[in-house]
Amino acid sequence: MGDRYCVFGNPIGHSKSPRIHALFAAQTGQDISYEAILVEKGSFPAAVAAFIAAGKGPARGANVTVPFKEEAFRLAARRTPRAEAAGAVNTLSFDAGALVGDNTDGAGLVRDLKNNLGCDPAGRRILLLGAGGAARGVILPLLLDNPAELVIATRTEETAARLALEFSRLPGCAINVKPDGIGFPALAGRVFDLVINATSAGLSGAVLPLPTGVFAPRCVAYEMVYGRATPFMHQAQAAGARVADGLGMLVEQAAEAFHVWRGIGPRTAPVLAALRELE
Ligand code: ATR
Repeated sequence: MGDRYCVFGNPIGHSKSPRIHALFAAQTGQDISYEAILVEKGSFPAAVAAFIAAGKGPARGANVTVPFKEEAFRLAARRTPRAEAAGAVNTLSFDAGALVGDNTDGAGLVRDLKNNLGCDPAGRRILLLGAGGAARGVILPLLLDNPAELVIATRTEETAARLALEFSRLPGCAINVKPDGIGFPALAGRVFDLVINATSAGLSGAVLPLPTGVFAPRCVAYEMVYGRATPFMHQAQAAGARVADGLGMLVEQAAEAFHVWRGIGPRTAPVLAALRELE
């Protein structure tokens, strides 16, 4: 029997991960299975143990999504540096019974920017909106790509400042840029080449108080949410920015996880195109 993988989450019914990994497996000729597992809150460790114990083939790994990424972080016996920096795990590998935690979200964003959108973070003035789990996960990969600057902005200035300070001193990481953390009002008069929305505002339809001037000419505006046009996307488009949603990041983080597990990097363009057709 083939190796087994899954994604744990709640809700999980609409997860695109089983389809993405099935397409990767078909494309690369890998004999694996990948299923979506709904986990009740409070039952995450038991669900992982049950997945490993049950089934016909050996369990090799799992993706973890909302709301279990922090719990997966705590459960992992070992963690990669990028998972440590993110404070969350979205990819588990089962290594002779030990859980190894990784985080491919940030790499997924950077891969989407570079490979699919022609937007290399290097040398760009980057504005990251939000200071929750989604924002935290992408800071290290962005910094490692040497942007001209990285400004984190939230509605609560202290949260942004604290996060920026934390990423200003990462021992052992070759980072040349110190991020800055500010509140939304301090964005007045600032201009950026890449604006990334990592807030959850789009999910509730809330409008972010962004000055139109934050979008430089030829700015890329990246919305991490996918499957809907958010107020941030409308704002950015009206200001003349090139707008992208988070579907590419979803596919690229999956490709990075597939590579972690299988040692093979699948081609993502046909998979992204297939998902776009279903939208
Ligand atoms: P996630 O794991 O998706 O990042 P989270 O940890 O709840 O979710 O973080 C959500 C982020 O979106 C937070 O930075 C939050 O801002 P606060 O820290 O000020 O709460 C931000 N956010 C959510 N709704 C927002 C809104 N309407 N306007 C501005 N920021 C918002």
